Amino acid sequence: MAACFILVLQDGGIAGYYTLSSTAVQLPELPETVVRKLPRYPLIPAILLGRLAVDQRYQGRGYGRFLLADALYRSLRSEIASFAVIVNAKDENAKRFYERESFLPFLDQPMKLFRPMSDIEALFR
Ligand SMILES: CC(C)(COP(=O)(O)OP(=O)(O)OC[C@H]1O[C@@H](n2cnc3c(N)ncnc32)[C@H](O)[C@@H]1OP(=O)(O)O)[C@@H](O)C(=O)NCCC(=O)NCCS
Repeated sequence: MAACFILVLQDGGIAGYYTLSSTAVQLPELPETVVRKLPRYPLIPAILLGRLAVDQRYQGRGYGRFLLADALYRSLRSEIASFAVIVNAKDENAKRFYERESFLPFLDQPMKLFRPMSDIEALFR
């Protein structure tokens, strides 16, 4: 159950894609500094960015960062409230990619990262 967005080049080639879907997190999963600003709901709504990938032939040309920015902008534009965009990094390389883009790790789940919507809003302001 996810919406898939595909980056199609002018020659029709597919450079990469990502998916977006709804998810939720529990407060104890998050760092205390973040929890302090959130309501005490059992589940906090969020957006899951899944399967972001760039075709090996096109990696290293900025398409990954472009797709990520596109995903963050779509998430921000959504009229449905969410506190952050969340990713599950598939390996250490992917984790480094997201950390460079200001994603923060969950407590005790180092491969799961989030970027608060307030931070994303500031990015596009
Ligand atoms: C991770 C991935 C999406 C990056 O896409 P890309 O098009 O090669 O990345 P870009 O060219 O947009 O690079 C953006 C920035 O991230 C950096 N970067 C790219 N891949 C990186 C990696 N594996 N580790 C750390 N930094 C990385 C680049 O150096 C660049 O920074 P710079 O401009 O300061 O040099 C791509 O390598 C990929 O599809 N990997 C396999 C699938 C995957 O791991 N997806 C992650 C979801 S789990």
